[in-house]
Amino acid sequence: MDFKEKIAIIQDFPKEGISFKDITPLIGDGPAFKELIDTMAEKLRAQGVDYIAGPEARGFIFGVPLAYALGIGFIPIRKPGKLPQETVSITYDLEYGSDTLEIHKNAFKEGDRVALVDDLLATGGTISACAKLIELAGGEVVSVDFMIELTELHGRDKLEGYNVNSMVQYDI
Ligand code: PRP
Ligand code: MG
Repeated sequence: MDFKEKIAIIQDFPKEGISFKDITPLIGDGPAFKELIDTMAEKLRAQGVDYIAGPEARGFIFGVPLAYALGIGFIPIRKPGKLPQETVSITYDLEYGSDTLEIHKNAFKEGDRVALVDDLLATGGTISACAKLIELAGGEVVSVDFMIELTELHGRDKLEGYNVNSMVQYDI
């Protein structure tokens, strides 16, 4: 299936000049969503992954069904103050200002193999912070997987040394 056919392009959202990639038609289409998750799961199966981890909110949409398909656990990475147990946190720069994400400190045993999943690779700021968090919590990031990659933003440059994969790519 050509998954791009299920992604709507919304011009000037959330602000002028942005060409927003809307995944809601894809995740709202049962057979298409199933094929997507099954395809991503098949790619990960050979890598002997112990956990899927992903950042809220949209990382959960893909990460949780992937974990279910593989029969492994899902580890949430959340915005501050949401996780109830002891956390490690990381603050990273945005275009304007900064953001913080957290993970449970005891999420992994040393050396657990983790696939990190999010909907979209744009500048790479979010996902490189997530990779560092997993490592701080004792996991090994063996794969970084996205539904969509915006290649012109060169987010991959922030992920040097990681095994980075995306299902569809856009150059705008
Ligand atoms: C979006 C998207 C990715 C991130 C990509 O999340 O879901 O997580 O931005 O951008 P980057 O590569 O430049 O960091 P957002 O923070 O908008 O929130 P959401 O997932 O909670 O909707
Ligand atoms: Mg996000």
